[in-house]
Amino acid sequence: MIALEVINLSKEYSGRLVLKNVTFNVREGEFFVIVGPNGSGKTTLLRILDLLEDPTSGKVFFDGEEVDYSKDRVALRRKIGMVFQQTLLFDMSVYDNVAYPLKIRGALTKVDIEQRVMRMLEDVELLGFEQKNALTLSGGEAQRVALAQALVTEPSFLLLDEPTANLDPKNVSIVEGVLSRLNRENKTTIIMTTHNMFQVERLAQRVAILNEGEIKTIGAFRDVFGYQSPLAW
Ligand SMILES: Nc1ncnc2c1ncn2[C@@H]1O[C@H](COP(=O)(O)OP(=O)(O)OP(=O)(O)O)[C@@H](O)[C@H]1O
Ligand SMILES: [Mg+2]
Repeated sequence: MIALEVINLSKEYSGRLVLKNVTFNVREGEFFVIVGPNGSGKTTLLRILDLLEDPTSGKVFFDGEEVDYSKDRVALRRKIGMVFQQTLLFDMSVYDNVAYPLKIRGALTKVDIEQRVMRMLEDVELLGFEQKNALTLSGGEAQRVALAQALVTEPSFLLLDEPTANLDPKNVSIVEGVLSRLNRENKTTIIMTTHNMFQVERLAQRVAILNEGEIKTIGAFRDVFGYQSPLAW
């Protein structure tokens, strides 16, 4: 079943096309990765999928329902979690940062919120960090808090913009472990960008190459990159 459908999506900034007729589908529960050089349009595409920006033209469907970018998108955004290329945490404790998306929804009791937050912190290996101010964390720790914050609401769609770009191997492995488990056990549909070819090989069910705003190829890692070791890239 198709979970996300993008049809002929284009985006123009001051007369310059940065996304050109982008078309692809992502299946429910698929781990879909987008690679492409700096400036190829990866972040712009994810921001449109996260409903933060409007496309100039084209259509986006989540679970078969077309997004109306002219309307209020609060309900639809609740299905989507996003981890941004630049981690953006609030000037408060790690616990409060992760609990925040649950608190603003207002649907859970304090005890339920605590259970979920602590489970997420355990997943990202940050138990014991609850009371630390999030702004004092290292880059790797902050990125893991951002991941916990995106996942605590159990979104059906997870968008990740270079989530491990500045992390050391240990942090990369923690983040990849969380993502693999989530994809396998919760069937979360994941759309991630990265420059790390090893990561593409480890995680992606399919990979798309974006270049100068256009999708050049989509397929399984082996079909797209051949049998060469990623070291060659
Ligand atoms: N708000 C904006 N206004 C004008 N131009 C923009 C805006 N946002 C992005 N662009 C331009 O759109 C193009 C694509 O940018 P984008 O950030 O999507 O690339 P990217 O693939 O994410 O690059 P990177 O790998 O460096 O993160 C770039 O040329 C960028 O300068
Ligand atoms: Mg980017």
